[in-house]
Amino acid sequence: MKVKKVVGTRKTLDAAELAATGLRDRWYPIYPSRFVKPGGMTKVTRLGVDWLLFRDARGKLYMIEDRCPHRSAPLSVGQHLGDRIACRYHGVQVDGTGTVVSVPGMPGCALEGKKATVSLEVAEAADTIFAFIPLTEDSKPTPFVLPERLADEANSWFLNYAEWAGPWRFYMDNVLDPMHGAFLHRDSHSMFGGDVSARFRIRETERGFFFEKTDQRGVNFDWVEFCRGAMDYVDLEIPYAASAGPGGVFGIVGMATPIDENNSAIFHWRTRRVSDWERDVWRFLFRAKLEENHWQVLEQDRMVLEALAADADVDEHLYQHDLGVSRIRRLYRSDAKQQAAALAGE
Ligand code: FES
Ligand SMILES: [Fe+2]
Repeated sequence: MKVKKVVGTRKTLDAAELAATGLRDRWYPIYPSRFVKPGGMTKVTRLGVDWLLFRDARGKLYMIEDRCPHRSAPLSVGQHLGDRIACRYHGVQVDGTGTVVSVPGMPGCALEGKKATVSLEVAEAADTIFAFIPLTEDSKPTPFVLPERLADEANSWFLNYAEWAGPWRFYMDNVLDPMHGAFLHRDSHSMFGGDVSARFRIRETERGFFFEKTDQRGVNFDWVEFCRGAMDYVDLEIPYAASAGPGGVFGIVGMATPIDENNSAIFHWRTRRVSDWERDVWRFLFRAKLEENHWQVLEQDRMVLEALAADADVDEHLYQHDLGVSRIRRLYRSDAKQQAAALAGE
């Protein structure tokens, strides 16, 4: 069978390369919606590929490969013409579906009307641009479904976006490792309490698996659920002191999208279950005080993850707390193998 190329790369990738730059055929959060204004455009790199995000004047968003179909100049240095981009090099115009709409240097050229640039299926929800990143040109996008905690209108959330100079797999390891809360975040506003020793267990759930302390709940970062839906994410809750206002526990939905093999785009939605005046209090308190505290916690994670050696996950000595880490690695190794086999035509 024929070896297939990975969309946007012009080559096939092996399992290790897929695991490093990101598994395909799933939805990923790409960028906060507000970063692309109506009539605006911006270049982003995701899963090792350069993309152009642009909005038409009415606000409709498109995501196409940042590469002109003529001679591959980046479209992001071209001109935004409302519903299309004109390449800077020779003026070829490409619309949001990736179709060449005009070749001004040679009217009537066969390239006109051809869909010659990759265009992705996108969705906007929870203040975020999401895209389905296909493995091959034959991949069919799956339906876009937002994580339940974000889709639930009883929750009020804030998106937090960051870019970290570390591989995305380190982010996933980190969130499947709740025990670091009691150490790395010991001096934070929300994770100072509870035991510094614990035993963990894994249990299967409908959406993925639950990784939890067996002897402590509701005190610190005591559990996390890895969820597989249209996209992979983690769902967790951290207790909040009464001074953090109404809404009970603090829910977090977390995702990481590889920028390339050494950098990651990190998305966290911070949520609370609040309505009416409580919702206003939560939103006020978050902006006035809590957001800064959360940045401090996130910076503690970033500091460690960026300091990890590129081969940090080789030659470790894992113990019982690392069951979640082992599980997620196994899962992604198997996904990567499957995708590599599909590319090899096996
Ligand atoms: S490279 Fe874009 S028009 Fe020639
Ligand atoms: Fe953390």
